[in-house]
Amino acid sequence: MAINILVGGQFGDEGKGKIISHLALHDKPDVVARGGVGPNAGHTVIYKGRTYKLRQLPSGIIYEKSRILIGAGVLVNPEVFLKEVEECGVKGRVGIDFRCTAITSAHIVEDSETGGKIGTTKTGCGPANIDRVRRTAKLVSEVPELKPYLTDVPKEVNSSKNVLVEGSQGFMLSLLYGTYPYVTSKDTSASSVAADVGLGPTKIDDVIVVLKAYTTRVGNGPFVGEVSHERAVELGYAEYGTVTGRPRRVSESLHWDELKLACEINSATMLAVTKLDVKFPSCKGVKKFEKLPKEAKSFIGEIEKKLGVPVKFIGTGADAEEIIDRR
Ligand code: IMP
Ligand code: MG
Repeated sequence: MAINILVGGQFGDEGKGKIISHLALHDKPDVVARGGVGPNAGHTVIYKGRTYKLRQLPSGIIYEKSRILIGAGVLVNPEVFLKEVEECGVKGRVGIDFRCTAITSAHIVEDSETGGKIGTTKTGCGPANIDRVRRTAKLVSEVPELKPYLTDVPKEVNSSKNVLVEGSQGFMLSLLYGTYPYVTSKDTSASSVAADVGLGPTKIDDVIVVLKAYTTRVGNGPFVGEVSHERAVELGYAEYGTVTGRPRRVSESLHWDELKLACEINSATMLAVTKLDVKFPSCKGVKKFEKLPKEAKSFIGEIEKKLGVPVKFIGTGADAEEIIDRR
């Protein structure tokens, strides 16, 4: 029984969906609640041969007994939400906080026209948050199709004992702590994600920061150690955006100073390292730490030493079950 938060430590696309799906299946939370920005996110979950590409719903949906909630801080695109609810067959167990801001087509048009310099996802998130601050935003309670889903998320979350909260994007895209102005339209740290779903700081048991074994970034802005797309393909690190389809920019290195800051500002108690099998192909599908090759073990050791936080989860493949859980 615990209230845990999971956030990204890099530029998004760390593989949060994969770790969350393991936690949901393994820890069996009563509630899986999504914080973070909105449908600019793209989480991929692969389980029992099915691939889910989620932008609006939490990745924890694959644990079928959990209540699924979207917190007040999350922007909701009604069309995207309704489509995912339909595709995932979660109609009876999903709720949206009645205070959420709705993304309108005008927001998407504005983002497409003005987001070029930052390289936004053009999903309308920035303009919708601007409207929220201007106090002119449309709320989900004004969208008739969403009426059946409206609920009081803080009330539900605070009365549950086993809650998994998932953030979106990553620490280095935070409006406060990221590479401003090349950032998303909101802070992405665990405290903000907690507030998004209505949890106060003393309620949180563990904060899990997820990092990928190498670094990727989509959109513009500074990026230390960037390699060419050709080199990324050679390394096997080439990836394409879930939401935008854009090739992701790739850096071979881990950005230690930023990761240290991510651990500090998120008060990380555990780390999850994903895509170890991409960096070291012989790790594919390994489920016990002892079975990892020597170089992979020392890589994990280096991360723990440099960041001072234990690596409790290691992703060794795309499927939710390809994971080492060291708790
Ligand atoms: P926006 O969040 O769409 O306004 O985009 C701002 C910046 O954040 C751009 O560089 C986007 O590529 C990046 N971004 C937003 N959401 C994600 C995500 O889920 N993964 C990776 N990058 C993201
Ligand atoms: Mg993503």
